[in-house]
Amino acid sequence: MRRAIYPGSFDPVTNGHLDIIARGCKLFDEIIIAILVNPDKHPLFSVEERQEILREALEEIETDECKLIVDSFQGLLVKYVTEQNAGAIVRGIRAISDYEYELQMALMNRRQEPRIETVFMMSAEAYSYVSSRLVKEVFQLGGTITGLVPAAVEERMRKKFEKP
Ligand code: PNS
Repeated sequence: MRRAIYPGSFDPVTNGHLDIIARGCKLFDEIIIAILVNPDKHPLFSVEERQEILREALEEIETDECKLIVDSFQGLLVKYVTEQNAGAIVRGIRAISDYEYELQMALMNRRQEPRIETVFMMSAEAYSYVSSRLVKEVFQLGGTITGLVPAAVEERMRKKFEKP
């Protein structure tokens, strides 16, 4: 049973994340998509909302035999991975700019817990520039994000910024 954790902020989930999940499914029997609960950050969507959005979005993904679970965690990632009996952490890399930060985290995580492997997956070309941060920025400034996030996310963002 190959279980992996795909950790992140997912504020909100993008089509880039979903592509990594779908492709990760070919490598693992189970992937737990784990949302970091970070009290220092001020996310657009609450953890509960992000869980709901992710569950909805995952229904659209072809997974064959792979099981997908949405969860949240607090504190040290490797501790959570160990508690979940998972063997790997999945992370997506879009551009060389992601590499340095991801390498630092992977090495630090390995130092904490050498039994856990980090598996890097290259983003699909089509989403290699897509980030949750840019999606939020562009949307708030009136730009278009269609095709970059699931339609349900776009709808929720519209509602979030609706003027009363
Ligand atoms: O989607 P993000 O914001 O790039 O995800 C970052 C995340 C959640 C993977 C990272 O911040 C993390 O693992 N946080 C948990 C705390 C922790 O273990 N920190 C040490 C990492 S070396």
